Amino acid sequence: MNYNKKTVTDIDVKGKKVLLRCDFNVPMAKDGSGRITDDKRIRAALPTIQYLLEQGAAVIACSHMGKPKGEWKPELSMKPVAARLSELLGQEVIMAADIVGEDAQAKAAALQPGQILLLENLRYDKGETKNDPAFAKALADLAGADGVYVSDAFGTVHRAHASTAGVAAYLPAVSGFLIQKELDIIGGALAAPKRPLVAILGGSKVSSKIGVINNLLEIADTVIIGGGMAYTFSAAQGGKIGDSLLEADWEDYANEMVKKAADKGVKLLLPVDTVIADAYSPDANTQVVATGEIPDGWQGLDIGPKTVELYKAAVADAGTVIWNGPMGVFEFEKFAVGTQTIAQALSETDAITIIGGGDSAAAVQQLGYADKMTHISTGGGASLEFMEGKELPGVAALLDK
Ligand code: 3PG
Repeated sequence: MNYNKKTVTDIDVKGKKVLLRCDFNVPMAKDGSGRITDDKRIRAALPTIQYLLEQGAAVIACSHMGKPKGEWKPELSMKPVAARLSELLGQEVIMAADIVGEDAQAKAAALQPGQILLLENLRYDKGETKNDPAFAKALADLAGADGVYVSDAFGTVHRAHASTAGVAAYLPAVSGFLIQKELDIIGGALAAPKRPLVAILGGSKVSSKIGVINNLLEIADTVIIGGGMAYTFSAAQGGKIGDSLLEADWEDYANEMVKKAADKGVKLLLPVDTVIADAYSPDANTQVVATGEIPDGWQGLDIGPKTVELYKAAVADAGTVIWNGPMGVFEFEKFAVGTQTIAQALSETDAITIIGGGDSAAAVQQLGYADKMTHISTGGGASLEFMEGKELPGVAALLDK
């Protein structure tokens, strides 16, 4: 797939209306207060928005929030995002009452260079996720005849939706600075990494990481496995895993991956010991046992101290480290040591350190190492699919350089 795409600096936007797709799908407080608990994705879009406004474009920003599936769910309104974006930009963000309806049309038509309008949640319309051409055209029409489409929604580039892919049929389509940065850094690490390339893959399920393990075994020098999925590898090799998480259907796959690593000469590191608990609880009793020796009634919730040392040593020698998925149940303090020590090791290495979005980004942030990493992706599913080597529809839709 070609990642060399035209960007905002390759196109004249002065005096034009720009339809700007952002990923403002931000976490909100569960109390219904509309409080945004992490505004990282909004801040990540600022360089592109500021650039467009400074260039004299009128910006029609749009995003989805959650999965309302065509229903107008008030708790998924973009209004709190408009308020936060307005604070960050230091200027008014005009809020449309709808997406492509009368209010949005009138406000888009009246929008002046240097002004910014935010549309309501794109997924309030079923046409968005269906990539309905009529909805895509209605979005494009808001920008008018000489309009431009800029995508900066890296977190959503793995979706072929009306606002991420379909709209490019109606407007010249280029990337913003965020997509460009994500493509440069993650794409660069996958295509021409500073070696050795060490991939650390964690998280609970093998089934959600199949593609990424498979692809990184083609590219990396070392692949490290942690998190809940390590127990499926252990079971597949005949180990006793007690009550630990097991995806029995994926045991054969786990064995295939072990064989593939051996065939390719890639070092595949699996945990040698594990912290086990007598319950899935922050207050559980714990002990450390060797991998494959977990008694019944106990479950593995973190990598053990010998494994931590083994993984730290691999990170210390790396040229590039890509990390996706926590090493244990880091939300519980007793089982956060593995994830925390790996985060610390990444913060201390001279290697290029790239953190996939989602849980790993949350872990690095929660543990206080965010500013020590080379790059923390704003994409969860998107960064995963990128690392799987899949084509990203939201990138494919953009004009080649
Ligand atoms: C994300 O949060 O990963 C993106 O905003 C995409 O959201 P989605 O998984 O609902 O498509």
